[in-house]
Amino acid sequence: MPTKKEVQAKFSGPSARDIIASDKKPAEDFLLKEENDFQGDKDIDFTRYTSQEFFDQEMSLMWPKVWQWACREEHLQKVGDTYIYEFGNYSIIIVKSKNDLLQAFLNTCSHRGTKICPNAGSGSLKFFRCPFHGWSWNLDGTIKNIPGNWDFPHVSDKTHGLQKVKCDVWGGFVFINLDLEAGPLQEYLEVLPDHFEKTPLENRHITLHIEKTLPANWKASQEAFLEAYHSFETHRSPNGANCQYDVFGKRTSRFLHNRGTYSPMALDDYPGDEWRKPPLTEEEILKNFGIVDLETTSVPDGETAREVAAKEIRLNLGDRLGVDLSNYSDSLILDSIQYHLFPNMFFFPGITIPMCYRFRPLKNDPEKTIFDIMFLSPLPKGAKHPDPPQPYKIDIHESYQDIPELGLLGRVFDEDTNNLILQQEGFKTNRKKGLTLGNYQESRIRRIHATLDEFLKAKI
Ligand code: FES
Ligand SMILES: [Fe+2]
Repeated sequence: MPTKKEVQAKFSGPSARDIIASDKKPAEDFLLKEENDFQGDKDIDFTRYTSQEFFDQEMSLMWPKVWQWACREEHLQKVGDTYIYEFGNYSIIIVKSKNDLLQAFLNTCSHRGTKICPNAGSGSLKFFRCPFHGWSWNLDGTIKNIPGNWDFPHVSDKTHGLQKVKCDVWGGFVFINLDLEAGPLQEYLEVLPDHFEKTPLENRHITLHIEKTLPANWKASQEAFLEAYHSFETHRSPNGANCQYDVFGKRTSRFLHNRGTYSPMALDDYPGDEWRKPPLTEEEILKNFGIVDLETTSVPDGETAREVAAKEIRLNLGDRLGVDLSNYSDSLILDSIQYHLFPNMFFFPGITIPMCYRFRPLKNDPEKTIFDIMFLSPLPKGAKHPDPPQPYKIDIHESYQDIPELGLLGRVFDEDTNNLILQQEGFKTNRKKGLTLGNYQESRIRRIHATLDEFLKAKI
């Protein structure tokens, strides 16, 4: 078995951490941490992505036991606002039942099981009413009225109130957990509260929400976003070729890469001559940033591309958003920093890539996923959250490039998701039993499978 040191061997040239550590505006402590132990190198069985039986096990043994975000607090601003969150065959009601209280319930009638709220997403109600026989409940889940009450002496709030689901909030995200015995959300989040202290996501608001159906298993879908190893081939971009990968615990991992730079080794065995071997000039790095709206085109002597770009963004973007970015490090302004929370959530603390993602199974289908992308923009100090925009809903064959707000990113998301149909098909025609992972660059994927196995084995 390779030693930890061998496993952690990365591309040649300066690492992401080396670059961040030499920035003019020093990085926050959490950006200088590195954690990645060898986790084994066995193939990951293809049936984990294709088999209905494996999917059913995930649905019964893992999904009802984990915390996952259902919506943002900004979806639930007034008493009576609801959000219906669906994953697999589960449907959950989240409701603002009082001014200072969010509650969650299973979206099913306690009479004969009918789904109470038919439509996923945002809504607003005075009370809940089942469309079949008209049983109704108050916003706090207690019974309001049962037509023909004389026939149900055996029914009370205790037995027939709406069925509760655990509900808590972090970073402006409303999380739910179907397991009434689950430990606290705060514990589940591992390093996240600490690492997001300087960039509280509750102070951001949704500017764009896209829900796209993908033709692939939920794990394969999110795995396309867990590494930057695919950047040269899929995106024809050098960004990410000195990416740092951290696995902080069973549920949290991170990638962190400096836009604009890449390692010389990354070019050794890639075809094509579009990219020059580093070291690059500061002007070349500036050009490679790929940051839309960057006005600076040259780097004065004695300064670095990172320094001048961060300075401009701090000022211009700060002005445009009405927020003070003066104490953000160069790295927090420029770099691509992405955290994953098991099983299916991604959060970005940075300023120029302010997104979050979520991947959830569509109904009972191991080969269909709903991919949510939200852009979260910082709110000016003291400003109220505006009402969130309605999501764009796009189907398998529709393109991200039809969404004007995405700009150039539309092409990037199309490139990422176009691979998925081929991968899902390729799983089934392979003589090999499973997929092979790089020990370092794909370590986050391996960690997710190991954590998933802990849930599946717990009940066997
Ligand atoms: S099934 Fe809901 S009221 Fe009868
Ligand atoms: Fe990608």
